[in-house]
Amino acid sequence: MDIQSCVEVRNEWDIVSARQLGRNMAKELGFGNVDQARITTAISELARNIYLYAGNGKICIQPIDQLGKKGLKIVALDNGPGIRDIRRVMEDGYTTSGGLGAGLPGVKRLMDEFSIESTVDVGTEINATKWLR
Ligand SMILES: Nc1ncnc2c1ncn2[C@@H]1O[C@H](COP(=O)(O)OP(=O)(O)OP(=O)(O)O)[C@@H](O)[C@H]1O
Ligand SMILES: [Mg+2]
Repeated sequence: MDIQSCVEVRNEWDIVSARQLGRNMAKELGFGNVDQARITTAISELARNIYLYAGNGKICIQPIDQLGKKGLKIVALDNGPGIRDIRRVMEDGYTTSGGLGAGLPGVKRLMDEFSIESTVDVGTEINATKWLR
């Protein structure tokens, strides 16, 4: 089960599909209900940001097994406007859309590893991993 699965995100239904894929993969890997909820919430936030700010992109979900350490990696990719100030968007309450500005800081708290790579006018890649304990 080391095949990554991706969901294209173009509309709000795709956000639901990405969530469902994440839940199924998390369950299959052996994550409990609480971690499944953390993972699906993180996927929702990342997918919603793609939909809102980039218009479209994709969410890829990949089981990982590194020296017996198992986990689930979420990759959110888009070719949207990019993020100018990554430190700023990681502050609680920072939003450019009148949202809560809780999405990205929330994803970081819910997951074990988190990173953003973004280039203005090129796009954004966000990686987040949850380890199985
Ligand atoms: N994929 C993306 N491409 C471009 N900008 C993004 C992307 N994701 C987030 N951002 C920017 O980062 C800001 C913070 O995102 P975050 O998800 O934390 O909050 P929000 O979407 O504004 O509100 P909330 O998620 O709480 O409803 C957004 O307002 C937006 O400006
Ligand atoms: Mg958001």
